[in-house]
Amino acid sequence: MISLQSQVDLLNSNTLNLPSIASKFIQLEDESDLLDAFKKYPLNSSNTLLIGGGSNLILPPMLEQYVLAFKVKCSKDAIVIREENQDSILIEVEAGVQWDELVEYCVMQGYNGLENLSLIPGTLGAAPIQNIGAYGVEIADCLEHLKVYCVDDKKVEIFTSEQCQFVYRDSIFKRHPGKFIIISVCLRLSRMAGFKLEYGELKSLKNEVNLTAALVRKTVIAARQAKLPDPKLLPNAGSFFKNPIVSPQQEATLKETYPSIVSYPLASGEFKLAAAWLIDQAGWKGFRNEYVGVHDKQALVIVNHNGGKQSDILSLAEKIKDSVSRKFKIDLEIEPILISS
Ligand code: EPU
Repeated sequence: MISLQSQVDLLNSNTLNLPSIASKFIQLEDESDLLDAFKKYPLNSSNTLLIGGGSNLILPPMLEQYVLAFKVKCSKDAIVIREENQDSILIEVEAGVQWDELVEYCVMQGYNGLENLSLIPGTLGAAPIQNIGAYGVEIADCLEHLKVYCVDDKKVEIFTSEQCQFVYRDSIFKRHPGKFIIISVCLRLSRMAGFKLEYGELKSLKNEVNLTAALVRKTVIAARQAKLPDPKLLPNAGSFFKNPIVSPQQEATLKETYPSIVSYPLASGEFKLAAAWLIDQAGWKGFRNEYVGVHDKQALVIVNHNGGKQSDILSLAEKIKDSVSRKFKIDLEIEPILISS
């Protein structure tokens, strides 16, 4: 049975630990609760917000919307094998499962493909929204289709990976906030080796004989722990800005002035620049004021040191954007989803 709660405190439901009160809150267990909520209350795409792990949200002090949240499920019960052959396996997983519990489970079962995405906070349902990515892999690489509730049509639909319109840190879901609620996700994972080891810290594994997904996962976890703050110890929302994509001309001009600029060529011919490098060079790494700051080991991460609110985070982000824009003529784009009240 679902019920409408009022004045629910979301401070511990978002990894930036921003103070935020939901005036109307509904806890959901499963798909049938979700459908009930839409029957029982006047929910629509402009008055409803679903929160997963709260790891990619910048919440305001007061939320007047209906806030829905899926209770986290025990991963084993929530994973169903849909297809299986010698080479691969197709699993359907409920959206409320914690992402990293799913990665750990798959690594243990010998289902390969998610190991590079180890230790990313949040739930599976949130993962396709910003097309989570790390160490050369994105969820788009193994997502075959997903089940989604279309809020405006009040219908459950299946979206293929193509319909999700995945690109770097973006999807149809992120471009149309409130219109879709992800219910479950089908992932095609491999039973073979064939790991992706091109990115930084993983290159050292290339000469490893009998390489396993477990070792790739261990290496990714060590690399992340060395640079990224644990949100439980130092509240943050991971990378706060997207890595900007620029034309070859712009990259060449920047390289003339800044020979050490970090850039990666893309298949499109454009270049992706390391926003962390730009912010670092603009002098922000380790900066802090009374409330918020820039992580001292990764300049792309904004942290909440001491009870900072949405406005404290946004005013720091604006200052960073301004100085990067003045120094490099690059407009940084905020990566997490900004929620207004
Ligand atoms: N760098 C600096 N200063 C810093 C940090 C990094 O100059 O303080 C330079 C380094 O040269 C480094 C380069 O920037 O080689 C890139 O840094 P890093 O390898 O840490 O990766 P990133 O581009 O900053 C992206 C993702 C991360 C993901 C890592 C690893 C985005 C916005 N971020 O960060 O994703 O874990 O690659 O694949 O694409 C997230 O989205 O929340 C996230 C953490």
